[in-house]
Amino acid sequence: MNTDQFLVTPALKSIEKVSFTWQTPSNIALVKYWGKSNPQIPKNASISFTLSNSNTTTKIDFVKKQNTTNQVDFDLIFEGKPKPEFKPKIEEFFNRIQNYCPYVFDYKMIISSENSFPHSSGIASSASGLSAIAMCLLSLENELVADLSKEYITKKASFLARLGSGSASRSIEGPIVVWGNHPEIEGSSDLFGVKFPHNVHPVFENYQDVILLVDKGEKQVSSTVGHGLMHNHPYAETRFKQANENLILLSEVLQNGNLEKFINIVESEALTLHAMMMTSNPYFILMKPNTLEIINRIWSYRQENQSNICFTLDAGANVHVLFPEIEKTKIMQFIDNELSRFCQKKHYICDNTGLGARQL
Ligand code: DP6
Repeated sequence: MNTDQFLVTPALKSIEKVSFTWQTPSNIALVKYWGKSNPQIPKNASISFTLSNSNTTTKIDFVKKQNTTNQVDFDLIFEGKPKPEFKPKIEEFFNRIQNYCPYVFDYKMIISSENSFPHSSGIASSASGLSAIAMCLLSLENELVADLSKEYITKKASFLARLGSGSASRSIEGPIVVWGNHPEIEGSSDLFGVKFPHNVHPVFENYQDVILLVDKGEKQVSSTVGHGLMHNHPYAETRFKQANENLILLSEVLQNGNLEKFINIVESEALTLHAMMMTSNPYFILMKPNTLEIINRIWSYRQENQSNICFTLDAGANVHVLFPEIEKTKIMQFIDNELSRFCQKKHYICDNTGLGARQL
């Protein structure tokens, strides 16, 4: 794998003090990434809708140090307050990227971050959080090196974001991104996400995702631990093969607009992800009774109304309700009247597909 393309070779300009602010969204996988090897290499290709309203805004103030040390020096302010518990993941991120961004040693960084979604809503913020930091680093690199192409910036930002959190590699661009080398997706790579390379059927334009907040608490098992449990998992190899096959099927569906097949693949992926958790050792269950209640009600509604509503899950109890924009009015009524009562404090987040990172 050609990682040399991401090394910084030319002499760097000297900049004393500079700040950048980026807003990057979360994403929701349709074919799931679950299982990886070092360094952050996925066991199968995954594909996601980039979201829009669920995002992180991050500003990094870079101040040149008097003397360069071999220590990465940063402060982390989250929603106005220092957040020591987020530091280790970011520290590990800086360690992983240091060869590709040697300039991080030259600066003291003040990272100020906030999420658009409520704090501890159970929505993973690592995808939006790490991709925002990656974009700020690329903005700095663009000043230091000058004349980086937009294409290179996007690719390297995704490459760096991946090293922080795999799914973050899919949050730089939108509305549909593939991460992981796949023979049928031209340009795809284990190293970074790429935009879905084919024309997408209009039914998927501005596709809706209403995130039902079933459980806002901290997950009992982190994604990182969950990925680890795919080593020696009895069904791992079959699962990785299935995901790559589902990606081919989904690629066809995204082009031809067959929503019946879309629903079948997406829901099967969600349940398979959770089946992998239930069949690992140690085993665990992240769904809650209300997750199942909601799924059953979505199935009934779909049947009774000839609707194209469906669900997917990430590594938690919350339910992502997916549907075409044309059904929005009716389905929002259904969510308000029937599903919201299964959410904590009736909370849900209305989102839709979006275009990725945005500089502020
Ligand atoms: C279930 O990207 O959070 O959401 O690479 O360890 O940070 P790390 O894991 P992470 O895993 C995401 C898992 C998932 C599926 C997906 O987004 O594809």
